[in-house]
Amino acid sequence: MLLDAGSPGIPPPPQGGSPLPVTSMATAAASRTSAPGVIEQARGKLIVALDHWDIGDAERLVDVLGSDVSFYKLGLGLQLAGGDALAKRLIAQGTRVFLDYKYLDIEETIKTAVRRAADFGVDFLTVHAAGSVLRAAVEGRGSSPLKLLGVTVLTSMDADDIREMGFPCDVEQLVLARAQKALDAGADGVIASAREAAMIRSATGGKLLIVTPGIRPHDTGADEQKRAATPSAAIRDGADYLVVGRAITRAPDPKAAVRSIVEEMASSLVG
Ligand code: C5P
Repeated sequence: MLLDAGSPGIPPPPQGGSPLPVTSMATAAASRTSAPGVIEQARGKLIVALDHWDIGDAERLVDVLGSDVSFYKLGLGLQLAGGDALAKRLIAQGTRVFLDYKYLDIEETIKTAVRRAADFGVDFLTVHAAGSVLRAAVEGRGSSPLKLLGVTVLTSMDADDIREMGFPCDVEQLVLARAQKALDAGADGVIASAREAAMIRSATGGKLLIVTPGIRPHDTGADEQKRAATPSAAIRDGADYLVVGRAITRAPDPKAAVRSIVEEMASSLVG
């Protein structure tokens, strides 16, 4: 499977000659960050999670954010409140949709459910990263362009949580084992915390898309996320896509929050 993260589109650093003074380097980095190509690239990596109670609130946010956001995640919270219909409308207007339904069921049901999501036209779909579930999902997806992402370990969980679930290992070992299962089954990527992104990338030879929730800019609280990371750290650590919910949806000015997060992501892309 190929990564679809796109080419960097970043101007190359100056070759040869004497090194630039620090102030000139900072100015050069700032102008590279604000270069339209880099901002566009960062924007393409941002997925906003529409975790609203009210479908009208989700729709209003989509309107407010306009062309600043091109990819939305819809999850279980809105599913019974018209989330599927909203997904259909977004797809019809050319917006990318990530359906985060974290499927876990018997193989026959998974196959049918995944085939349904593929027909629906969503871009990304999550299933639990268990071998039989992943294999059934890959079968259900068939030749459609739907990308299947395996959920490794929820970013709200830490070592105590997985011990309580009966896994006699640490979080990193479980994340890696599940990422390997996703790769072996032919899935396209994984959901993992930014803290594990670099480890997954090197263990799987960069063959999996890495999508990271649990993103918290410096000035926001962690909520229940126990393995949170800032937007810049997530990009630096090799995340292909960042899923951001409350830091945008509950911001006093969501559009300004998006722009600030995209700027921060762009600054990491130029290194
Ligand atoms: O509000 P916040 O940015 O924490 O939202 C994170 C989103 O990512 C939520 O929709 C949550 O369901 C989802 N998610 C997660 N951890 C995972 C997989 C998905 O937080 N491992």
